[in-house]
Amino acid sequence: MQVYVVATPAEVGRLAGAKIGALIRSKPEAVLGVATGSSPLDVYAELARQVKEEGLDCSKVTAFALDEYVGLPVGHPESYRKVLERDVVGPLGLNPDKLNVPDGASDDIAAAAIDYERRIREQGPVDLQILGIGANGHIGFNEPTSSFSSRTRIKTLAPKTRADNARFFDSPEQVPMHCLTQGLGTILDARTALLVAQGENKAAAIAGMVEGPVTSMCPGSILQFHPDAIVIADEAAASQLKLTEYYAYTYENLPSWQRFEQPQA
Ligand code: F6R
Repeated sequence: MQVYVVATPAEVGRLAGAKIGALIRSKPEAVLGVATGSSPLDVYAELARQVKEEGLDCSKVTAFALDEYVGLPVGHPESYRKVLERDVVGPLGLNPDKLNVPDGASDDIAAAAIDYERRIREQGPVDLQILGIGANGHIGFNEPTSSFSSRTRIKTLAPKTRADNARFFDSPEQVPMHCLTQGLGTILDARTALLVAQGENKAAAIAGMVEGPVTSMCPGSILQFHPDAIVIADEAAASQLKLTEYYAYTYENLPSWQRFEQPQA
């Protein structure tokens, strides 16, 4: 696992955006796994800047959402399809037909999950999966005690997750109880897993996933088994890590070929 600790949330966005921009330049038809929530917003903003100022072309990129709420009406502004259309498809100039989101409005949720796995299989593998992490260690909506080999399926959102996501709704009761989420096994299939984290409320989850034991009590810790997992955290999110000096030392001494291309100032 490569761990990068940077000063600010904006730096998280710049560094992650540099990595993803370089991927899309070298592979215009890249398959990107896209997370929602607040964590990746600076990453998407940095990519949108590269599109606008540096001519980055994302029109051939295929995107797969990590998850979707179950039961929101089609077109609900907080459905992850709508959020991704707003925050990613528009600003990055993705082809809307190349955005894949699990169908949380389906009458047959089990079939929708199977169909999503089939689409990932047929169009994948995902080249790079962007991830955030929940304060309880979840990735995707794989809440604590999720199976490490799980595939896309329905999950019940933990009360903590519903409370955390209440900020996007008019009242906490409006946050759906269920979601369709890529499983931990699905996420592990991505060639690269890139997790971004900002803020003190993520510090325990980051310490658990990077330096703790691999345990389903902290689902993100499964990334310790991923052959190319990258964590980019700001100082607040990294504040409970023990090996911070080692990560800085590694960063300073990265061979040039491994260093992310820095976007031009
Ligand atoms: C979002 C997702 C979740 C979030 C996590 C962190 O698609 O799958 O795992 O990444 O809940 O949310 P934020 O970034 O809002 O703190």
